[in-house]
Amino acid sequence: MFEDLLQTWDGEEAVIRFDEPTQAWMFVCVHSTVLGPAMGGTRMKTYASPHDALADGLRLAGAMTLKQAAADLAYGGGKAVLAVPSVPTGDDRRELLLRYADLVESLGGTYVTAADMNTDQRDMDVVGERCSHVLGRSRENGGAGDPAPGTATGVFHGIRASVRHAFGSDDLSGKAILVQGVGSVGARLAELLTEAGAELMVADVDAERAHDVAARVGATAVDSATVIGTECDIYSPCATGGVLSAATIPKLRCRVVAGAANNQLVESRDAEMLQEAGVLYAPDFVINAGGVIHLAGFESGWTEEQMAARLAAIDDTLKQLFAESDGEGITTEAAAARLAKSRIDAA
Ligand code: NAI
Repeated sequence: MFEDLLQTWDGEEAVIRFDEPTQAWMFVCVHSTVLGPAMGGTRMKTYASPHDALADGLRLAGAMTLKQAAADLAYGGGKAVLAVPSVPTGDDRRELLLRYADLVESLGGTYVTAADMNTDQRDMDVVGERCSHVLGRSRENGGAGDPAPGTATGVFHGIRASVRHAFGSDDLSGKAILVQGVGSVGARLAELLTEAGAELMVADVDAERAHDVAARVGATAVDSATVIGTECDIYSPCATGGVLSAATIPKLRCRVVAGAANNQLVESRDAEMLQEAGVLYAPDFVINAGGVIHLAGFESGWTEEQMAARLAAIDDTLKQLFAESDGEGITTEAAAARLAKSRIDAA
């Protein structure tokens, strides 16, 4: 039942295991090891079918290859999916993670895991009990901790680069910015943006969370159902992917899209549609690389200054991509993919 997916995938290997005790499927998708071990998070989620779960893992692993290369890190791209009948807790969760750790360990470092949707640093601590190829364990256990603050800082630099390109100055004071999703990344980003003087709006499907963050940072909470049609200078998707499509792009009332969410475009031609609509798009896998930069930098023993410089370099990368997009008439997404592929080809 997985043949169609695997035959058309351009990655290196997918390791599949069925976990009898929990009835979960484990998919470890190693897309590329050209630049280094394939690094990417472990997503724990309930899917309609194992086929859908593998499709998600394969697609996400490919995006990780682009992300690592565009950030100029010595890692390739991978992703793992634990497709669970329901998200486990307590002993069931721990035992599932330990068996999963054995699987990752058995790959000998080809794949390096980290946290992702529905997994966190505590889960990585458990994985780390039986596996040495794990990033983002808790600080108490000698790990890098939560990468979300690094992601938020990187997105902040990316917003600055985008605003400079679109408006001629990177001064955020008075800029109307709408952050969609104020979870781990969005809430921290909201703080950074209000500190920089932005006129911030926040939205979340969890309306209480949106109101709490708004009250704390001095923003306005807006109804999450109205995000796409809301007028603003910068729309920053920090919730789910798939927010930019033929259905939503014509309704956008912003000049810039720059946010943390993975896989924001539904189809690659959506990048062209954004360009034609005069909306500057900061490619997601470039602007949201702060998380992997945080993990890779911690592993490499970077100083705080080195880490800060690498996060700030997201601004420089976007500046270059925007210039190439303007100069050659290609989309920002195409310019970003070309940068990533050139680094992989050079290796
Ligand atoms: P999170 O789960 O902590 O927060 C997501 C927030 O979005 C939650 O508050 C949730 O209620 C809200 N939300 C979900 N659907 C929504 C919708 N349709 N409209 C409005 N709000 C909605 O996730 P986190 O870690 O903050 O990540 C946010 C996005 O950034 C995700 O797409 C993630 O894949 C991506 N990302 C996160 C990184 C990290 O370091 N945490 C790294 C790179 C990308």
